[in-house]
Parts: sequence; C-alpha cells; structure tokens
Amino acid sequence: MPTVQNHPTTSIDSGRAALGALPPGGAHARASPSERAAIAAGLQGAAASISPKYFYDQRGSELFEDITGLPEYYPTRTEHALLRQHGGDIARAAGTGGVVIEPGAGSCEKARLLCRRLRASHFVGVDISEDFLHGAVARLRAALPGLDARAVGGDITAGVQLPPDIPRERRLVFYPGSSIGNFDPPQALRLLRHMHALALDGGGLLIGIDCPKDVAVLEAAYDDAAGVTAEFNRNVLAHVNRLIGSDFDPRQWRHRAFFNAAASRIEMHLEAMGPQRVRWPGGGRDFAACERIHTENSYKYPLPAFTALLREAGFGETRHWTDPRGWYALVHARA
Ligand code: AVI
Repeated sequence: MPTVQNHPTTSIDSGRAALGALPPGGAHARASPSERAAIAAGLQGAAASISPKYFYDQRGSELFEDITGLPEYYPTRTEHALLRQHGGDIARAAGTGGVVIEPGAGSCEKARLLCRRLRASHFVGVDISEDFLHGAVARLRAALPGLDARAVGGDITAGVQLPPDIPRERRLVFYPGSSIGNFDPPQALRLLRHMHALALDGGGLLIGIDCPKDVAVLEAAYDDAAGVTAEFNRNVLAHVNRLIGSDFDPRQWRHRAFFNAAASRIEMHLEAMGPQRVRWPGGGRDFAACERIHTENSYKYPLPAFTALLREAGFGETRHWTDPRGWYALVHARA
C-alpha cells in the first residue's frame, strides 16, 4: 500500500468522493465556525493544505466537468468504455435485479448506465448535497420508470443508514470515477469498510481505480495543455476567500502537479509566485516565494495493492476489467 510522504503533518481528507457535486450556486457563502477554524488550521499548518472538497463550488464543479472531457484526462472516458464493453460480464459478476447504492452519486449519470445494464430494482444515491441529488434522482426515475430510485442525504465517510425498506439482498455499492484515490490509504480503508457494511452478506462493490502508468501520461492528466486543471486548482482559493473571508489573489499562485512515486500518487499544490501576505478575520499567514499549499492527492493503485486493501476491508473474491493498456480498472468484489 502506498505510504503518505511529503506531507507528514497534515492529512488531505476526502475530495469530491465524499462531497459529491455541489448544487448550482452551492459555494456555501460562508462556512460554519468549526469549518472556518478547520480551513484556517490547514492554512496555518507547517505544510499548508486545503482539503480538496473545497474544489467543488459551482465554478469548480463546472471546471471538473471540463477536465473529464480533456484529451489528457483518460480516467472518465476509459471507465465509461469499460462499463459499456464489459456490461454483460459485470452483470454476471454483480447479479441482476438488485439494489445499486452509489455514494457521492452527484449527477447519477454513470448509475443510469449501470442500473439499465443490471436491470436494478432499486437505486439509492447517497450524497452530502441532498437538494442536487434529489434533482438527479428524479431524472434517473424518469429515464428508468421501473426503477425505485431514492436520494439519501449523508456522508458515506461517516457511515450512512439506508431507508429500512431498501431490500437487504443483492446490494451492489457502486463507486466509480477513481474517487477512492483522493483519500489517503487509511481513510480509503475506512471508507471501504463502510461500503462493505452497506453491501451486507451476498452483496458486492463495483469500484473504479486509476493505476500507475508512465509518469508523463499521469502528469499531463493533472497539468493539461489548455490549463483547465490549473484553473480548477487556483479556483479553490477563490472559494476559500468566500468561505473564510480571506484575501488570496489566485493569480499569484502557480499550479503544480507531479507524481510522487514513493507514495504512488499525483500531488497537486499551489505555489506562491512571490511573497504573499494572506489575511482573514481572526488570522492570516505569510507565505514565502515558492512556498506551497497542498490541495490534493490522487493515489494510483496497482491492482494487487488495491485487491489487498479490499481484503483488509472485509471483501472476498474479486474480478476486474481493464483497458488494453492497463491504465484503469473496474473491480468487482464480493462482500
Ligand atoms: C475526483 N477525482 C477522482 C479527480 C482525480 O483524478 O483525482 C479529481 C481531479 N483533480 C484534478 N483533476 C481531477
């Protein structure tokens, strides 16, 4: 399992995976006092950090959509192709006519493809952003009228209770997008345990993972020629400004993305282009030129390491489907 390096004093916590997509205008104008304190603590740590969950205000969610269509960003289209090409095999492994549960469901778009393929009886989308999820689930219901589709507000990282009438048999937890990679390995293990608990005996997990590959390919995926990922990274400062009342000037921060081979992860940082004095009500920090704020980790798991993590989380037999280059994998694991 990759170890966390270069970032010993802080832990970058969950990204989009936990938060899901925020609703339009979902950049909460101001964070709660405890959230403000947590953001300030991250900024004032020995190695400054901002949680990747703050990428996803309205602008950040739009930029992320743009990222998924970039020529350099292979995960989304590779996963989509795997779902389409291996739908029959996936249905045989996962079983048909059961319950699909998607943590961080967001727009439910991939779920539509899967539910149709599995002829699912029920769908439960779980997302912190409940209002947004309700709209997405309504669209899913309209597209698949036979499906009993529900929206459950909640954070899977904290464990979620499903409505009591959701069948306990043939449950499949669906976690696409390689979002598991945005958690540090101990957090990923905890999350997989929650998923194992949701699947119950006889159920399973279908999860997307991004695998290690040529460093140039990986780094281009997180530092594209059009600068969309750079914009996405810098946008977090504008969001933090609204959340805590800080005065970051995003134009003064350079996007950095590189592969940390020892930890098997892409790291994203923002690097001060010159000395910066940043202030917010009740605090602040001076940054030296070239000092960095760590904004995201994206772990790239070799299949055997990920299978071992699944075992540790309690899962049994696994099957996987990869593209011919072995860049990305969809893994099914029995609960
Ligand atoms: C959401 N998550 C899986 C993306 C990733 O690839 O780690 C977030 C992302 N960050 C930069 N580009 C995409």
